[in-house]
Amino acid sequence: MRVNRRMTATVATAAVVGLTLAACGSGGSGGDDSGDSAGGQVEVFTWWAAGSEKAGLDALVGVFDEQHPDIEFVNGAVAGGAGSAAKDLLQTRLQAQDPPDTFQAHAGAELQDYIDAAQIEDVSDLYDEFGLTDAFPADLVDRLSSEDGAIYSIPSNIHRANVVWANPTVLEENGIDPEAQYDDLDAWIADLEKLDEAGVTAISVGTTWTQVHLLETVLLADLGPEAYSGLWDGSTDWEGAEVTAALEDFETIIGLTNDDRDGLDWPEATQLVIDGSAAFNVMGDWAVAAFEEQDKVLGEDFTATPVPGTDGVFDFLADSFTLPVGAPDAEGATAWLETVGSLEGQVAFNKAKGSIPARTDADPAEFSEYQQGAIESFSNDTIVSSLAHGAAAPVATLTAISDATSKFTTGASDLAGYQSELAAAAQG
Ligand code: GAL
Repeated sequence: MRVNRRMTATVATAAVVGLTLAACGSGGSGGDDSGDSAGGQVEVFTWWAAGSEKAGLDALVGVFDEQHPDIEFVNGAVAGGAGSAAKDLLQTRLQAQDPPDTFQAHAGAELQDYIDAAQIEDVSDLYDEFGLTDAFPADLVDRLSSEDGAIYSIPSNIHRANVVWANPTVLEENGIDPEAQYDDLDAWIADLEKLDEAGVTAISVGTTWTQVHLLETVLLADLGPEAYSGLWDGSTDWEGAEVTAALEDFETIIGLTNDDRDGLDWPEATQLVIDGSAAFNVMGDWAVAAFEEQDKVLGEDFTATPVPGTDGVFDFLADSFTLPVGAPDAEGATAWLETVGSLEGQVAFNKAKGSIPARTDADPAEFSEYQQGAIESFSNDTIVSSLAHGAAAPVATLTAISDATSKFTTGASDLAGYQSELAAAAQG
């Protein structure tokens, strides 16, 4: 559904622009030096439809409106965390030759899917035009490029997936030290069980994609970064004993979560920790924006630490924006991409979104304490790719892993069956 957030303002602006143009005569610029032609628009397709995610998008739109006042932003957001509903709908539109002007896509394997299907344009020229060639880390640009070096999207941000959010009050009330450092999952599970025995929701989770998000962090914790990465390049055996042990931990942890999980998206699952109805939640660091939006203070009202067993590892994902083949308003899309890549756009967006800028020239002092820590971790830690957020595996693999996970967590398969289905999914 298209929602035109500026309908009223646009009508008013159009009237003013009409007057200005008339006053300037046919050669007039309308007083705008941005070079945009009047009357253009850009439908921006994302899944940042509500709450703190929409606040992030709104901040970016604020900069876009300043940089490109003649181009109308059309919000094509489709609700559902991690693109759980948006990606299918997008695929239907792309196959029907009805693309939006630009869409959100994850750096890495997910973007490669769109490149392989010839659904997005090479935007290397825009890197030259906007002076972006040296603006981003080389490793990130590699994940946005085809083998021959053509670049296919402009990144807006970098998120970390392996974060545990906790409510220190709930922990203290149940005799658990909120400052406790857990070396591995076993130590953490011991406290989760203690909370569970006390009748507290030890760890909150939501619908399937959030369960897959939890799964990837459990695999990372138990296998370590090298063997975890090997799951995606074929060098780690999905049928092996190490994976079995990790899946056993996953089964234990799922058993300590809220029963209504399948009906919740990430904001509701994280909200249980914000409200003190659950002790822990594993979620990407877009969650920090939800805490901060509700005036919660890091270190007082909530804590944010790496998932036990993943300290020193940054489970990475990045959002980026594309120019689809056949975009109805390529000029509008180009203007949007310019804003996405600009320093001003990245600072405004990431301050509100909880992520860190993809650009390397942003000043860390502009960001929150949590984000400053994330900026440091990103430059020092071992980087691995997120499964649930398109960096590690193609969409088809993620879909098959999600289906297998849903069967397992709803009791429709046992652990051995789950492991075989995961192994088959990873083979594509
Ligand atoms: C991720 C996306 C993030 C955030 C999250 C929850 O896939 O990269 O920006 O929106 O989903 O919806």
